[in-house]
Amino acid sequence: MNDLDQLVQAAQADFALAEAPADLENAKARYLGKAGRLTELLKGLATLTPEEKKTRGADINGAKQRVEAALNTRRQALADAELASQLKAESLDVTLPGRKRGVGSMHPITRTMERIEAIFGSMGFDVADGPEIETDWYSFTALNNPENHPARSMQDTFYVDMKDAEGRWLNLRPHTSPMQVRYARAHAQKYAGQAHMPDIRVIVPGRTYRVDSDATHSPMFHQVEGLWVGENVSFKDLKSMYLDFIQAFFETTDLKLRFRPSYFPFTEPSAEIDIMFERGPLTGRWLEVSGSGQVHPQVIRNMGLDPERYIGFAFGSGIDRLAMLRYGVNDLRLYFEGDLRFLSQFK
Ligand code: PHE
Repeated sequence: MNDLDQLVQAAQADFALAEAPADLENAKARYLGKAGRLTELLKGLATLTPEEKKTRGADINGAKQRVEAALNTRRQALADAELASQLKAESLDVTLPGRKRGVGSMHPITRTMERIEAIFGSMGFDVADGPEIETDWYSFTALNNPENHPARSMQDTFYVDMKDAEGRWLNLRPHTSPMQVRYARAHAQKYAGQAHMPDIRVIVPGRTYRVDSDATHSPMFHQVEGLWVGENVSFKDLKSMYLDFIQAFFETTDLKLRFRPSYFPFTEPSAEIDIMFERGPLTGRWLEVSGSGQVHPQVIRNMGLDPERYIGFAFGSGIDRLAMLRYGVNDLRLYFEGDLRFLSQFK
């Protein structure tokens, strides 16, 4: 092995030791750089005779080419390794399940409201919305609660420390009943002077407020008001309609309805509506779900209608109560705590 073969071998070994491109460039400088071993050999040619120069020069150039070839091979190997490790680091396993964004769902009370709206909608009822901040007049006076009458404290009302433009005190409506008069007045006005007024048939689901808080009462709760007023609407219609509703709502005919005499200033006669399931875990207990009654003649008058001609009934049902019974929830507060462990069960 001559000195050039040794030099080439040394270069190949050096290049093989280089683990990174920078190491390789340093190794290259030792052979091909300005003061590199091959460069020095080429410089040494100057001292030789022309004859010697020819053969020695060709040999050195041959060695230089082999060193350059070794360098390029190693360069390529390092680049390939670099690419491979990069690909490995950035690899993604397409068989892994994706990271999903949580999907929201409707609140059980909203679902219950929509269910109630669908059922009454199918029975020809309009669905209306009313203000949650009400005037004294709509919450009480129009509903036949005289000023300073103890009936006003039947509901523990949240008052708002503010009056409306006409100087009437405002409150957070303690029931959805104010909408009876609001809706009926608008309806009566729309058909004023016409020979025939279509029946008023509406439900009003929404938020209501009372100073009350325990497992079955929340300061904010939900009611659905129902109103049907026409020239020939009777208590019999209330009974059959409410039975249809309850059976559709609970998806069963295995239940009984009971009208228990009660008192509301805005209905006469008045009744609480109780239901009893004839199957399932709640069997054998009467459960109160609604207040109801025939609309009081004074309320009909406040609607802008003639009580000699118009008659009807109203009811006000607890939506949260209905939802609790339907879903088997025993603490009302669960609905309003925003705990996803509870809410996600209704997806
Ligand atoms: N508004 C009554 C309540 O909150 C319920 C009711 C509505 C009663 C309509 C009769 C008629 O308890």
